[in-house]
Amino acid sequence: MTQGIIAVAYIVAAILFILSLAGLSKQETAKRGNLYGIAGMSIALTVTIASANPDALAYMLVAMLIGAIIGIILAGKVEMTGMPELIACLHSFVGLAAVLVGYNSFLKILWGENHVSGTMLNVELSEIYLGVFIGAVTFTGSIIAFGKLRGILSSKALMLPGKNVINLGILVAMAVLMGLFLHEDGSMLYLAIVTALALIFGLHLVASIGGADMPVVISMLNSYSGWATAASGFMLSNDLLIITGALVGSSGAILSYIMCKAMNRSFISVIAGGFGNEVKSSVVVEGEYREILPEEVAERLKQSESVIIAPGYGMAVAQAQYPVADISRKLRSMGINVRFAIHPVAGRLPGHMNVLLADAKVPYDIVLEMDEINEDFPETDTVLVIGANDTVNPMSQEDPHCAIAGMPVLEVWKARSVIVFKRSMNTGYAGVQNPLFFKENTHMCFGDAKATVDKILKAL
Ligand code: TAP
Repeated sequence: MTQGIIAVAYIVAAILFILSLAGLSKQETAKRGNLYGIAGMSIALTVTIASANPDALAYMLVAMLIGAIIGIILAGKVEMTGMPELIACLHSFVGLAAVLVGYNSFLKILWGENHVSGTMLNVELSEIYLGVFIGAVTFTGSIIAFGKLRGILSSKALMLPGKNVINLGILVAMAVLMGLFLHEDGSMLYLAIVTALALIFGLHLVASIGGADMPVVISMLNSYSGWATAASGFMLSNDLLIITGALVGSSGAILSYIMCKAMNRSFISVIAGGFGNEVKSSVVVEGEYREILPEEVAERLKQSESVIIAPGYGMAVAQAQYPVADISRKLRSMGINVRFAIHPVAGRLPGHMNVLLADAKVPYDIVLEMDEINEDFPETDTVLVIGANDTVNPMSQEDPHCAIAGMPVLEVWKARSVIVFKRSMNTGYAGVQNPLFFKENTHMCFGDAKATVDKILKAL
């Protein structure tokens, strides 16, 4: 395949990736965006395979076959609730790949297979050094994120004494070692030391971020994986990899920034591993709560003129989106104004609730973002909180020392009546007690959200 055809194919693939990102930014165009992405990736893969060194082709195809089989099995098995962990796991692979590509490129220089000298040698060594550093941080950071999302590791922030000094120390050491690495025209010892430091840095950076800030970590690791890919692109002299990496890196960074704004967090403090972010809450939430049965909820809904449904992670766990969508259709057919209120970090993935509701065929125009609907709660008869907890927790406004302090939340308690669907009085992901459950206008409807909503649907 000629260089001209490869260049044109890569440009077409890059344009399709840009169109894909643009499409994915809105629910209405998300499907089309995915199709553009699939088309771009198919072109990129075909051209890369067709233009590969014939000696390497057999290895490539075997590796792709193994990867494809593992991918298909995993994708077939994973539940929607397991998606965040899977994504964290995939980010770790991208980081590991960048490290391996870096070592491969370095060994080529070391063993004289790549004859570069002068300025070009410094450029290539810098690419290798930075690629390995970013890749290693992404690798271990993503593994910790996987553990936290899966619940294997505590979602609480690790608060080592002098944690900011540790982070800054590693960054300074990395800069000094880079100078030495370049000065010696490459050294395996320095590369190995910086790899070890970067692995520790990734572990510490993500472990220091508390549960409530995990949404930002996910988009941040997404961004890091993009930069690691771009670094691999430089090392392999592959333009498409550079463009794709830069697209993922910058869109991930923009998403992290949007998430920080939505959660009222400082972008710098979160990406620096929860810099100065200490939680010292001593508020104890106590009181009596009132229970309600599904049949009583159905009666209350029939008497309402306006209903807002606030879904959260529990709806995803219970797979309750289908009966919830059925209830909304039933109530709307009875002339009741039903809308959905979506918190930006509800669930465990950006857009998690939107995806579930779209899958259950809830019309987009009744699914509103927090900013669009928060002022409507005082005029609302009934709010159904389905498996949401942190995103409807008034403690964010009441206790400046709790883990979710300052995070804007859905102000559901301002409605005339609130019904919370969950299985127990347990806290949400951030581990903060929720005074909403003890308010006079709140009733708890205990049980698995899907089973409960099914009962309400039947009673309706
Ligand atoms: P959470 O605060 O996680 O609370 C979910 C609630 O659902 C739990 O209190 C749980 O209570 C209930 N639940 C679980 N399984 C259930 C079931 N089968 N039936 C009924 N209820 C069930 O949810 P949220 O309000 O959506 O908040 C999201 C949290 O995750 C935030 O802290 C956010 O920062 C964090 N986070 C978000 C993301 C993104 S990007 N969205 C990523 C990582 C972390 P019971 O156990 O009592 O049932």
